[in-house]
Amino acid sequence: MNLGVLVSGTGSNLQAILDAAASGRLDATIRVVISNKPGAPALDRAARAGVPVATISHRDYPSREAFDAAIVERLRESSVEWVALAGFMRLLTRTLLDAFPRRIVNIHPALLPAFPGVDAQQQAFDYGVKITGCTVHLVDEGTDTGPIIAQRAVPILNGDDIQALRHRILEQEHELYVEVLQAIAEGRLVVEPGEPGKRTRVRLLEP
Ligand code: GRF
Repeated sequence: MNLGVLVSGTGSNLQAILDAAASGRLDATIRVVISNKPGAPALDRAARAGVPVATISHRDYPSREAFDAAIVERLRESSVEWVALAGFMRLLTRTLLDAFPRRIVNIHPALLPAFPGVDAQQQAFDYGVKITGCTVHLVDEGTDTGPIIAQRAVPILNGDDIQALRHRILEQEHELYVEVLQAIAEGRLVVEPGEPGKRTRVRLLEP
């Protein structure tokens, strides 16, 4: 599987993907890592792993569509087939979605549809839920609204602070994202378009 990864920040999920690909646990070649933020630490991680990197700043484009078109061009240049968002902080337009139909995945640090959007861990913590987690989903135009592929639950324990919770969720994210990407690489992702007015459902076949 030729994978492109879009990032904006730290890149710990990217690191998990790079490590899994290097060790053979993930049957994927990371063809390019693109950041919309110049100097994002994720870019260093990619470069250290010998993966081509690009910075495409949304600030350099007159519209979201023009920004997405530049990303599509760079992904195509690298023969990318699947795209993984890993802490990419921009909403996608049809320009990017239509270029990779149902081939863009994202990881979110909550059990969707609860707590979409920014700082989901803090939202869950502040709400007082006892179980949160992480979700890998196909990306659509909304904020964390696409069809859910897989989820992992993470308890919020008595005495947790937000840092402890973030850390515990991230550990699960790193495992879950690699697991789902490997399932995709093995052709085990099944998309079942729903009836009119119903949500598209996706599931993973057993290995
Ligand atoms: C993760 O919590 C991910 O779920 C969310 O953004 C964060 C990115 O972290 N979409 P990192 O850059 O992978 O460390």
